[in-house]
Amino acid sequence: MDKRPIGVFDSGLGGLTAVRQLRRVLPGEDIVYFGDTGRVPYGSRARDTIVQYARQDIRFLLSQDVKFIIAACGTVSSTFPPEEAARLPVPYTGVVGAASRAAVAATRNRKIGIIGTAATIRSGSYAAVIRDMMPDVQITAKACPLFVPLVENGYVQDGNPVTQLVISDYLESVRAAGIDTLILGCTHYPLLKKMIGDYVGESVTLIDSGKVTAQAAAAALADLDLLNGRSEGGTARYYVSDTPDNFAEQEMLFLGEYAGGPVQRIAIE
Ligand code: SIN
Repeated sequence: MDKRPIGVFDSGLGGLTAVRQLRRVLPGEDIVYFGDTGRVPYGSRARDTIVQYARQDIRFLLSQDVKFIIAACGTVSSTFPPEEAARLPVPYTGVVGAASRAAVAATRNRKIGIIGTAATIRSGSYAAVIRDMMPDVQITAKACPLFVPLVENGYVQDGNPVTQLVISDYLESVRAAGIDTLILGCTHYPLLKKMIGDYVGESVTLIDSGKVTAQAAAAALADLDLLNGRSEGGTARYYVSDTPDNFAEQEMLFLGEYAGGPVQRIAIE
């Protein structure tokens, strides 16, 4: 049993989609969230920059005495070196493993689509894990660099014409590939789930990487005997690297509720 909080971080606020699920499956756990809102997006940056930012984010969470770290960011999960993650003083997980396993379990025709940031798709991270589990899989991967800015700027209302246009431009080839499963490989993308689902069709199963990762993290915490033993009353503290002024509005957008935890701006370096 461990009373310390769970640490979750993302380049921005997309990781709150994982926090939403974490609070649902582990309502008694305390959470510390860091969103690097001053430097989002990470997905269009160079690999070494992403790794450096991730190190700083992790260092901040460790300074908050967390017991487990979730990189609720497809870009960091695809880029942060696994050997470095293994050396951290607390267990760490990204979103790639859980989302890949969920996709393999869901597909019937062995045609899986993956969408993510430019860095995520370039890394080939999801494809590698999926191929290990299902060698004869047919993968169609597509970078969707405009999705994160659209989400962070609130272009998420169902039917938004700008977002619809971008979705059809990016996903035409993915839909044409005949996939039956699509990994939303970035934690911002669940905010576009309805519009993406409408475009690819209801026969395609959408895998929400943050959601399945939160479920897998809950199982890992239980296995490692790291749960705090409470079944309700968990708290959340939020930290951001840019202004927290519109955090409540964005929290509503990402969490679908005002979770009510305090939010504080910190200097990240
Ligand atoms: C980004 O910062 O570009 C998106 C974060 C993610 O990949 O989940």
